[in-house]
Amino acid sequence: MRTQVAIIGGGPSGLLLSQLLHVRGIDSVVLERKTRDYVLGRIRAGVLEQGLVDLMQEAGVGARMTSHGYVHDGALISHGEEIFRIDFARRAGKPVIVYGQTELTRDLYEAREKSGGRFEFHVEKVRVEGADSETPTVIYEVGGEERRLDCDFVAGCDGFHGVSRNTIPAGVRREYEKVYPFGWLGVLSETPPVNHELIYANSERGFALCSMRNENLSRYYIQCSLSDSPADWTDHNFWDELKRRIPAEQAERLVTGPSIEKSIAPLRSFVTEPMRWGRLFLCGDAAHIVPPTGAKGLNTAASDVHYLYNALRQFYEERDEEGIDRYSERALARVWKAERFSWWFSSLMHRYPDQSEFDLKMQRAEVDFLRDNEAAQVAMAQNYVGLPY
Ligand code: APR
Ligand code: PHB
Repeated sequence: MRTQVAIIGGGPSGLLLSQLLHVRGIDSVVLERKTRDYVLGRIRAGVLEQGLVDLMQEAGVGARMTSHGYVHDGALISHGEEIFRIDFARRAGKPVIVYGQTELTRDLYEAREKSGGRFEFHVEKVRVEGADSETPTVIYEVGGEERRLDCDFVAGCDGFHGVSRNTIPAGVRREYEKVYPFGWLGVLSETPPVNHELIYANSERGFALCSMRNENLSRYYIQCSLSDSPADWTDHNFWDELKRRIPAEQAERLVTGPSIEKSIAPLRSFVTEPMRWGRLFLCGDAAHIVPPTGAKGLNTAASDVHYLYNALRQFYEERDEEGIDRYSERALARVWKAERFSWWFSSLMHRYPDQSEFDLKMQRAEVDFLRDNEAAQVAMAQNYVGLPY
């Protein structure tokens, strides 16, 4: 089989890239290890920056996002009983759109299927050959049978556990990592959200987040120990702990109900450099991970897709390799800023096991500074709604 762009991974990065290329008449094949339903079964953050919203429109898949997404002009931050609002519209001139990643991924799958996009599911033993030549090949197996996909370029969109990153020789690759000493226990419940905007809560019992998917579907998180398992937490204990971490007024309003999903995610900051090796380009979680505080995972994947899509467009439409040559540098410049924001916001909001009295005072002072200082709110809001591409 032959295509112009071989895309490894059918998560949001791979699908968005494939759909954008399709709109420009550039052919791609998406190779996915699992199935469409497996990919759509994963629950991930659902806060979209304007840059991602614009890419979805450019890809011709923005209709449902526009009609079903919620415009959020701000978010609340609490510290103990105190609560204040960061006004995104006023401080950064833009809102964010709350629309589940599952929904966005479904829209992309439906669009690719409708436009005859080529997929291979259940691919195994994927490897890339000749990434440093002008004729790369992706070799893989489906049901024990070996297949080859010849292409001009390979997009490694296969997430943190994929194979693309390790295709770049160890001598060329550099990895940077920070692992946080806690996790997030998340619960999805068919209850109305406690508030119409998100609440990020710093409490002496640990962090909590009140988020949502729609008027009758809420998403809540609490900071937990890495040794906890979801089975350790009954619904009752989860709700009880959440209520203790948010201000009393919000806790009293909180509507609880049975959880329909409960899971624990560890928190990690990770970046690999470079993001390009020859004709292989890493995109999204394959190249970097952020802790979820601030919901930058999907949005940072989208900025990679933006740079890669434009680089490929420039190559095919103008025979110009400038975008390709500068992909890694451009993508990484923005990745590191999203890493900084996610690390900063995580540090501001969580309780760390080794935090001293001094560290707690610093955290408190930083929250107070954000509450009282307009410049600090502008910086927070600009990062939250998304830095320019
Ligand atoms: N071959 C083919 N596909 C693979 C392989 C492989 N060897 N390894 C992994 N995959 C697939 C996974 O099954 C998954 O569907 O690649 C896809 C990667 O998707 P994501 O992990 O969602 O990564 P990405 O598309 O970059 O999305 C980034 O989504 O995952 C969230 O937190 C992440 O919000 C961020 C955004
Ligand atoms: C979510 O709704 O799942 C969510 C929202 C905001 C975050 C993280 C997760 O910062």
